[in-house]
Amino acid sequence: MRVFLSAILTSLFVSLPLAASADVITERQANFSASGKSLRMIGGAIGEGNFAFIEAEAAKLAKWADMMPEFFPAGSESPKASPDIWTEFEQFTQLTADFGAAARALGDAAVSKDASLVKARLGEVGQTCKSCHWRYRSR
Ligand code: HEC
Repeated sequence: MRVFLSAILTSLFVSLPLAASADVITERQANFSASGKSLRMIGGAIGEGNFAFIEAEAAKLAKWADMMPEFFPAGSESPKASPDIWTEFEQFTQLTADFGAAARALGDAAVSKDASLVKARLGEVGQTCKSCHWRYRSR
């Protein structure tokens, strides 16, 4: 599972800005699912004291946050994405940046090997997922 996740997240890092297509929707959904799995694996790694793993996953999450706006090009509407994303793209991008900042703070906590700080920062990352979903994800 870890290998599979890394494969997804690694492949996206080499992607160039994407044109609107069915692929971009599929790819972003795969990256979102991978990030959900990543959060769960990080939760497990806290218990194991595997801070190196947490640091690496946090770096992948931060890169995904940086690239996320490119995965929402104009014309890539989908049933689960609110149309407001494209009329309020600046606000949407602010939420991707908040997620990136939280992921970087999580990485810093992993470097400090402070399990309770890592736990708190993981919770903060989760909050940034929720704030964006609350506003911009349709169900
Ligand atoms: C800046 C906004 C934003 C942030 C931050 C964000 N998401 Fe999402 N997420 C979305 C949108 C929009 C969709 C719907 C995408 C689509 O279907 O086109 C989505 C979809 C998803 C899905 C469903 C994917 C699928 O297969 O349909 C999962 C799971 C998910 N997000 C998890 C997360 C997790 C976990 C985080 C935080 C680590 C996160 N998201 C952060 C906006 C965001």
